[in-house]
Amino acid sequence: MSAKQARTTAIAETLEKIRSEFAHGASDDALSKVRAHLMALASRTELFSRTDFPLPEEGKNERTFLIQEDEDGGYALYVNSGLKGQTTRPHDHGASWAIVVAVEGDERHRVYRRVDDGAVEGKGEVEVIDEIDVSPGHGICLPESGIHSIHALGEAPLLHLHLYGKSFANQSTRTEYDLENGTTHAYKLRRLDFIEDAR
Ligand SMILES: [Fe+2]
Repeated sequence: MSAKQARTTAIAETLEKIRSEFAHGASDDALSKVRAHLMALASRTELFSRTDFPLPEEGKNERTFLIQEDEDGGYALYVNSGLKGQTTRPHDHGASWAIVVAVEGDERHRVYRRVDDGAVEGKGEVEVIDEIDVSPGHGICLPESGIHSIHALGEAPLLHLHLYGKSFANQSTRTEYDLENGTTHAYKLRRLDFIEDAR
């Protein structure tokens, strides 16, 4: 069996467990059980080699590979291959939940809650409610509309698995927060040609 066949089989087996955990919705308890299944998949490092998921070329920060998506856009699983030093602003994933686990590398996730009432368009304040380091054996769950930012730690490049309730194409409008200016930016991921299909 090729590495890709072994990976496809392992992903299908993992998805079967994940679907059954979510049979009654994406509760916090279900999310954390799903994170454990995803960490078990990520611990099989032989399935996620740098041959299949290479580092970005010079001048680019990351590469995103799609490795599973249901026909309706549900249960989308991506491999993120990134260089050290990546950061993002605080953002949600529309109404989708998200789980991130590590095959390799270490990144800090800050988790936020919105503190204003959203009454003024384009304005928004968030505050940090948690910090979670995602490294092999440790993952993060974000509920629907959960807000996080990512800050890579250390010198090692990243190879992380990102599972979403809905694929990037199917996520509703995301909101990104500018902490310094107290502003928000609502956006749809329209250009999806950065995603490499590795199914
Ligand atoms: Fe995110």
